[in-house]
Amino acid sequence: MAQTKSKSNSGRPASIQAGKSSGKNSNTSSQEQSSMLEELFLDELKDIYWAEKHLVKALPKMAKAATSDELRQSFTDHLEATKGHVTRLEKAFGLLGEKVQAKKCEAMAGLTKEGDGIIEDTEKGTLTRDVGLIMAAQKVEHYEIATYGSLAQLAKTLGKSDLADLMVQTLEEEKEADELLTSIAENNINVEATAE
Ligand SMILES: [Fe+2]
Ligand SMILES: [Fe+2]
Repeated sequence: MAQTKSKSNSGRPASIQAGKSSGKNSNTSSQEQSSMLEELFLDELKDIYWAEKHLVKALPKMAKAATSDELRQSFTDHLEATKGHVTRLEKAFGLLGEKVQAKKCEAMAGLTKEGDGIIEDTEKGTLTRDVGLIMAAQKVEHYEIATYGSLAQLAKTLGKSDLADLMVQTLEEEKEADELLTSIAENNINVEATAE
């Protein structure tokens, strides 16, 4: 996870609700809280930007490793969507008046490493491999869903609706990708894999 320097010692940056401060945090002005939240937003943007660019490299490997045409096609399609996510993030940096910057996302590095492990540990041409690849891919999608959901909410809190719209657009595409993977697993792969 991205880390943000905050004046707070709580280990977490200002609450997402900071914009609606009740006045209890009287030692931090609402302007300061807002800039801390903006800093957090920017930091998380750099994190997911690294993650998406990393996925542009990882998805072709997963497509190549897939056994079924259906799964391979879903990875190939999601690669195109992912390239769009990268472009959308670049737009988000622009809206903030910030330069485009990536910051290593350890979580995504770990998740794609897990995907590599599945490929190493399963036999080529088996549906068992596809079951594993779907599992790895869904972990990735869930990480993205959590990130874009939080970023959309944060953008709304900051009063940046144009930014929130961008985050929601990607959020919806990640959800679609996740649902497609679920239906591929449910409809074909898992049942057929039991016969191996
Ligand atoms: Fe994405
Ligand atoms: Fe995705």
